[in-house]
Amino acid sequence: MRKPIVAGNWKMNRTIGEAQDLVSKLRGHCDGLSGVEVVVCPPFTALRATSHALADSSIHLGAQNVHWEPRGAYTGEISAEMLKDVGCEFVILGHSERRQLFGESNQGVSQKIAAVRSVGLTPIVCVGETLAEREANRTFSVIEEQLSGCLASWIRDPVDPLVIAYEPVWAIGTGRNATPEQASEVHAFIRNRLRDLSDEGVSSRTRILYGGSVNPKNIEALMAQLELDGALVGGASLDAESFAHIVKSSIRTYHGI
Ligand code: PGA
Repeated sequence: MRKPIVAGNWKMNRTIGEAQDLVSKLRGHCDGLSGVEVVVCPPFTALRATSHALADSSIHLGAQNVHWEPRGAYTGEISAEMLKDVGCEFVILGHSERRQLFGESNQGVSQKIAAVRSVGLTPIVCVGETLAEREANRTFSVIEEQLSGCLASWIRDPVDPLVIAYEPVWAIGTGRNATPEQASEVHAFIRNRLRDLSDEGVSSRTRILYGGSVNPKNIEALMAQLELDGALVGGASLDAESFAHIVKSSIRTYHGI
């Protein structure tokens, strides 16, 4: 049985004070909930304050990016050890905004996965096709290429937990989400590919999240799909009530209660 994850990707939003405020509201709704792992991923500058604000909470802390080297002359970058030091347990890698706007490659993601694993953090690896790719019937080949490229380092020793987030690029921040059926067929494809790249046990333990315009209205239909193990939420994670609603609906639908 997999435990679903609902992760909030705050992107480049929230100052320290705003982050503390959001987390304290979120704790009121989500602390102590079982049957789910709730993760918040603030910007780097708010990690420390958020980590303090989450003391004794069941909510986990994640970051939105990392550098692949452990230390050195990499101006402006942050290492996996630094993220661990500040209290992170998860790191989002290969988000489509990083791929499109900052030239992140599958190979870079693979190096980052290795760095993240070396300090015991869990990567949340994002994959997803653009609208042009979907319309050209290339969804599965794109996902396939992203998975084999990104997971090149991981498949050498595929034992630690890894989380995959399927985020169709055309659904991110657009209000246009994939239908539950569209999401489900890609999730099933990802799980099969994971099995080919590792084995049945690893593939069936891996949580595969959906991301792209997830909101309190569409979460139930999405989570009702067998292959969905939670959500990576952008815009709706900036509002405590909306995010908490998504978390609670996910628990109910996933566990059938
Ligand atoms: P969105 O973002 O929920 O605002 O579409 C999702 C993401 O980018 O992870």
